[in-house]
Amino acid sequence: MHNSHSRRDFVKHMAIASAGLSLAPSLSFRGNLTDEKVKLAFIGVGLRGTEHLKNALLREDVDIVAIGDTDPDRIDLALKLISEAGFEKPKVFDKSAYDYRNLLELEAIDGVIISTPWLWHTRMAVDAMKAGKYTGLEVSAANTLEECWDLVNTHEDTGSHLMILENVNYRRDVLAVLNMVKQNLFGEMLHFRCGYKHDLRGVKFNDGKTAYGKGAEFGEKGISESKWRTKHSLMRNADVYPTHGLGPVAAMIDINRGNRFLSMSSYATKSVGLNKYIIENGGKDHPNAKLKWKQGDIITSTIKTANGETIIVTHDVNSPRPYSLGFQVQGAQGLADFDYHTQRIHIEGQSADHQWEAMESWLEKYDHPLWKKYGEFATQAGHGGIDFFVLHDFVEAVKTNTAPSMDVYDAAAWSAVTPLSEISIENNGAPQDFPDFTRGNWIKRKPYPWV
Ligand SMILES: NC(=O)c1ccc[n+]([C@@H]2O[C@H](COP(=O)([O-])OP(=O)(O)OC[C@H]3O[C@@H](n4cnc5c(N)ncnc54)[C@H](O)[C@@H]3O)[C@@H](O)[C@H]2O)c1
Repeated sequence: MHNSHSRRDFVKHMAIASAGLSLAPSLSFRGNLTDEKVKLAFIGVGLRGTEHLKNALLREDVDIVAIGDTDPDRIDLALKLISEAGFEKPKVFDKSAYDYRNLLELEAIDGVIISTPWLWHTRMAVDAMKAGKYTGLEVSAANTLEECWDLVNTHEDTGSHLMILENVNYRRDVLAVLNMVKQNLFGEMLHFRCGYKHDLRGVKFNDGKTAYGKGAEFGEKGISESKWRTKHSLMRNADVYPTHGLGPVAAMIDINRGNRFLSMSSYATKSVGLNKYIIENGGKDHPNAKLKWKQGDIITSTIKTANGETIIVTHDVNSPRPYSLGFQVQGAQGLADFDYHTQRIHIEGQSADHQWEAMESWLEKYDHPLWKKYGEFATQAGHGGIDFFVLHDFVEAVKTNTAPSMDVYDAAAWSAVTPLSEISIENNGAPQDFPDFTRGNWIKRKPYPWV
């Protein structure tokens, strides 16, 4: 069977890689492989939860003890994948929207991965931490400032850990540039650009496969993310998805670990894209053509940090455009623009004056030890390999019950961009202060473990 074959190969390679592990302590995955398997549960096995599940099924150090979802088709698909991979059948929690609370009562669960729609995230993560489970939470973590604090307070009250599952932090180019920043290639850091620019107007999901299709429906008549995500564009004028861009930048400049986000101003363009799309695909008489969309098509936020850097974060999901997170990092010695479509760098004294140069050899030179070590195996996982790293980091942190690489304070600070951008846009770009979710501890917290 394909799955068990690739799982065997994967496990064999992992064992060889782990045996030869010679990374500096701060770079190595935490903890040693223990004999006992990590018992995982999954709440939400839609598009994203199924990706996490598939990657877990490639591992030999986990058991899948429970899955929960309100959609019977998703449960069936998950059970099929689990059975095909030769794992034992997990307990199923599919009776109601709150059946996940019964799942959380299972003592056997060590770690739970939550991949549900945004409005469930904080509620489920709070319940999971209260139940003493190591909690992995999909992005974004929270929708309001109150929810950000709920996550932090629950972690501090219970001692249960929360990891925000931001996979972009593990992208090969992102980690190579993190290396460049840490090795001072760009000099003292000044400015960053990042964002989430992804044409989501036609996102669909059918029969376990993703497809992009044209349609004018969302909500009850939609499928996968269009069931719940599109409505945020109708109701909120905010950057509702900041973490894919901001997480990597936060790691580069030690946010919550010697630095922090101080304040932010946001502006939104008018809203044109969804209305145009609905008319073009559903006709001008379609009931959804009359809707007034609140979210501006392009939302631009500028963040100021305690250490004097600025970060421009963009949210752009309702326009025709190729996918991009639009990274730019700039210091006093040089800068780089890097993404799937652009990779260019200029370093004073090393590049020709006023000229960009291709980044390929720089990315090779600064390739991160994690990718050198695990790159070959990681590529079996989704999103070009990054999904391997995020799950691996989660499983290893659960094993040792130690603080994750991206913790509850990061989850709160990164997600706070949503409510703060909303208030700022409503008030003509008025700067909004970030709460200090670390309660002053940012001045002494240790750097990110992969630095
Ligand atoms: N990191 C990434 O690359 C990435 C990619 C895609 C999605 N995501 C994130 O993952 C999350 C899920 O997105 P998705 O694309 O999988 O959406 P989806 O709609 O495909 O899946 C969500 C699943 O949650 C289930 N669900 C809803 N309410 C529930 C409840 N009360 N109890 C149990 N199950 C419930 C739904 O039935 C569905 O199967 C979102 O936060 C999204 O932003 C992250």
